[in-house]
Amino acid sequence: MLHHHAKLERKSVIMLLFIIVTVLIGGIVEIIPLFRMETVIEPVKGVRPYTPLELAGFNIYIREGCYNCHSQQIRPLRDEVARYGHYSLAAESMYDHPFQWGSKRTGPDLARVGARYSDDWHVAHMIDPRAVVPESIMPTYAFLMHNEAKLSDIGEHMKVLRMVGVPYTDEQISHAYVDGVAQAHTEDLDENVAGFIERYGEKVNARVFDGAPEIVSEMDALVAYLQVLGTMVEFPSAEPVSADQKE
Ligand code: HEC
Repeated sequence: MLHHHAKLERKSVIMLLFIIVTVLIGGIVEIIPLFRMETVIEPVKGVRPYTPLELAGFNIYIREGCYNCHSQQIRPLRDEVARYGHYSLAAESMYDHPFQWGSKRTGPDLARVGARYSDDWHVAHMIDPRAVVPESIMPTYAFLMHNEAKLSDIGEHMKVLRMVGVPYTDEQISHAYVDGVAQAHTEDLDENVAGFIERYGEKVNARVFDGAPEIVSEMDALVAYLQVLGTMVEFPSAEPVSADQKE
């Protein structure tokens, strides 16, 4: 046996062929099952597709390139879990297209930033990061207050997402625009909030996110998106380590 191996090692082309065959077998065994995605992502209770307003916020997050400085993936390492909370589950980003795991952390991970700060904090921070975190190097996004959130075509976005497996219902798609406006709770559309909650569940946030009810702004959309991040799944036994334990 070893005798044959010595022969093989001297013939580099044959050796190469054997290496390619071996790596191919390994590759096939690892990759083929991944094409059947439903077998590798375990569904987790609480994970739902984004609401139209959150989806508009998700689109702004991508447009502004927030992923260049922020990841959304808490790794199962002691220091990360102590800082950010329970490590990310695959199911938590299963409806993100494209996923926002990111590859660089100039700023902190945002996978569980939802409900950690008030809406006012987020608005103040987006308008002028230095006003709340003096040493921050994050750019300002004050203009989001004045731009109207683009909800007119959000139903089309939802239709496309449905094609790649996000389970939006016909009703959610046909009500996309009114639901988007209802979530940011502008006064004249209050009666739509009940329908919105019925379609997306009791846990959903519906309020004026940016403190200015006159228009549904891009700030409303982005803050609605940030406030839901990491909040869909409840982790009763996995609270982030409290501040005094951290020291
Ligand atoms: C040039 C890099 C950079 C970009 C681009 C950037 N950020 Fe940041 N961000 C930071 C840094 C650095 C911090 C930490 C200091 C601070 O809180 O301002 C931060 C902090 C944050 C925080 C607070 C997180 C926490 O847990 O305290 C949020 C929320 C946030 N950014 C959202 C965004 C969003 C949304 C965008 C896109 C619209 C964005 N950032 C774009 C660098 C960036």
